[in-house]
Amino acid sequence: MTAEKAPAGRHYLDVWGVAKSFKGTRVMSDMNFRVERGELVSLLGPSGCGKSTLLRIIAGLLDADEGSVVLDGRDITRQPAHKRNISVVFQNYALFPHLTVAENVAFGLRARGMAKGATGAPVADALALVRMTEFADRPIAALSGGQQQRVAVARALVVGPDLLLLDEPFSALDRKLRETMQVELKSLLLDRGITAIFVTHDQEEAMGVSDRIAVMNAGRIEQFADPSTLYSRPASPFVMDFVGLSTRLEAVSKGRDGDLTVFDTAYGKVRAQENIPAGTRALVGVRPELVKPGEGENRIATTLADVMVLGSKTVLHGGAGEVDRILCELPGIRSGMARGDKVELGWAVGDTLVYGMAS
Ligand SMILES: Nc1ncnc2c1ncn2[C@@H]1O[C@H](COP(=O)(O)OP(=O)(O)OP(=O)(O)O)[C@@H](O)[C@H]1O
Ligand SMILES: [Mg+2]
Repeated sequence: MTAEKAPAGRHYLDVWGVAKSFKGTRVMSDMNFRVERGELVSLLGPSGCGKSTLLRIIAGLLDADEGSVVLDGRDITRQPAHKRNISVVFQNYALFPHLTVAENVAFGLRARGMAKGATGAPVADALALVRMTEFADRPIAALSGGQQQRVAVARALVVGPDLLLLDEPFSALDRKLRETMQVELKSLLLDRGITAIFVTHDQEEAMGVSDRIAVMNAGRIEQFADPSTLYSRPASPFVMDFVGLSTRLEAVSKGRDGDLTVFDTAYGKVRAQENIPAGTRALVGVRPELVKPGEGENRIATTLADVMVLGSKTVLHGGAGEVDRILCELPGIRSGMARGDKVELGWAVGDTLVYGMAS
């Protein structure tokens, strides 16, 4: 992403020029990240890329070495965490095990000086929101993972935060429960117009819950876009690989042929619209559901290395290895194809993704 510097405060959350080192090692430099009011945004990236670090800097749990954090026009860079009115849901929920559900939810209100007698109504509202009313008097230790997760969300929401930060809130849950919680939390946040940032390294979770996704790599944002743009027009090979699957072919440009550039690959010639000068090395990609047997302007003859029947789809693997594998995803169950079959797989020129590589 370009590091253009906007005047602080034009966006609801405006993180700009943030840098952070740990013991002399730079993990983030010139981070620019902006979120609009009411948006649900995800930070997506591999382990160690700096997602939690960015979240902690926004929350005030970690000081940035350089740069600013502005929330709703207020410069909060030097403000302590408890003054920011930002709630955080941590991966392990960080609930107090010796307190009941209701006491946990009331905690933030009490910490802000609300009298004990006054917390009843807001706590009941927050518990109703996450459908945990009947568990109010239970100790935390007597709850399932999903129930604890709901309590953590209730505790974060009860204070009426200006911003909600969630650091891998679903990672301890099994897949089914995770999907249920994603849907519930998303509709709850949308209904209440709460601005939220999720940290996740699960691309499906990010696609499912967010208006926009910031894909991070090694302390930088590689692309910040809505899910469909991110998937259909990934800005870099890293984003293409991290968000969804794709065929990747190593290629060399042979120059223009009319409106198209011709590339040499291990499977023969492939054409694309991008203008890449002759002699330049490139990576050519295509999403698997855009690849069809026996169709399309770009054709590749291959032997099937695997046929995976996954129920809702069947995935054909052509070629071998990480680089130069060809993936074709067909809807539903496809019988009649097997490992070892020779097939011709093709796709449209316009669906071809191309990344020129510095040589
Ligand atoms: N307190 C610390 N001291 C030293 N290094 C740290 C500290 N906290 C984070 N780091 C380093 O900073 C980098 C970013 O860490 P961070 O926790 O932000 O990653 P992450 O994207 O949240 O990863 P994960 O998906 O594993 O949670 C990593 O290289 C990590 O080792
Ligand atoms: Mg983390």
